[in-house]
Amino acid sequence: MTTEPMAPTKPRPLTDQEFSRFRDFIYEKAGIHFTESKKYLLENRLAGRLRECGLSTFEEYYLFINTATHYGRAEMFNLFEAVTTNETFFFRNPPQLKVFETEILNRLIDDEQIKKGGKLRLWSVGCSSGEEPYTLAILIHELLRPYKDKWDVTILGHDISQEMLKKAEEGLYSDYSMRLTPEPIKNRYFEPNDNGFRVTDSVKAMVRFEFMNLKDHLRMRLISGMDIIFCRNVIIYFDESMKKSVIGHLHRALKPGGYLFIGHSESLHNISDAFKLIHFPGAIVYQKPAG
Ligand SMILES: C[S@@+](CC[C@H](N)C(=O)[O-])C[C@H]1O[C@@H](n2cnc3c(N)ncnc32)[C@H](O)[C@@H]1O
Repeated sequence: MTTEPMAPTKPRPLTDQEFSRFRDFIYEKAGIHFTESKKYLLENRLAGRLRECGLSTFEEYYLFINTATHYGRAEMFNLFEAVTTNETFFFRNPPQLKVFETEILNRLIDDEQIKKGGKLRLWSVGCSSGEEPYTLAILIHELLRPYKDKWDVTILGHDISQEMLKKAEEGLYSDYSMRLTPEPIKNRYFEPNDNGFRVTDSVKAMVRFEFMNLKDHLRMRLISGMDIIFCRNVIIYFDESMKKSVIGHLHRALKPGGYLFIGHSESLHNISDAFKLIHFPGAIVYQKPAG
């Protein structure tokens, strides 16, 4: 007689009390805020982790991620993967990138400066699989092309998702990720292969990826001297207190006169009045006053 493998039992629905416990845990560890209306979304994502771990109740899973063992800690990172939204693509929000290219870079680098060379520091906060920092690297590369050797450019890409960071380091992308990438840029900065398009080494060399939890104040304080920060479509997942904390760190990390870009559906209203707002057609840019 053959025995069929047992199908994992579906956990019973997440109770309100369990929801509150997970919500508070995720908020405490990663700052991501699940409102009551997202209960079912969280339940689905947790159910996936339960299956992976071979556990049958949410309670067991809660105890597991709270154990101080190596496995418990490792599972906490898997939970981060399950609860983050990593949607991104190259050349996302073209009007904003146009402003970055034609207004902001030109304010930082005038015709004289471009020939002389210099340093440029950018930070892509919540960079997901790397499309955003690589887009910035390509735009900077285009602008500095004749004088590239005279420039020292570093773009940091930080995220809480180790899976996404691995993808970013690989630098291999599907057509879907490249849907807004202009054809000449595609030809100049990507090498097609059987699995997609690989970012060229010249672009890769400009970007450094690292794990960073925006809840980690000590790590956040170590970043400084930024000319431009992109933190797009990230604070939308945070509550007011976490938004204030993150934006406070970004403000401190910017050089006086430096610029911050946030997502077009995001706002700093009631979050920070420490920036000067600069309105351009199709985009608002936040500038740290020159002091
Ligand atoms: C929707 S993606 C945005 C990607 C890119 N900035 C863009 O606009 O295309 C949001 C990213 O924020 C990251 N994230 C969320 N909470 C985070 C935290 N506490 N620390 C670091 N990254 C976080 C997620 O992992 C995700 O990759």
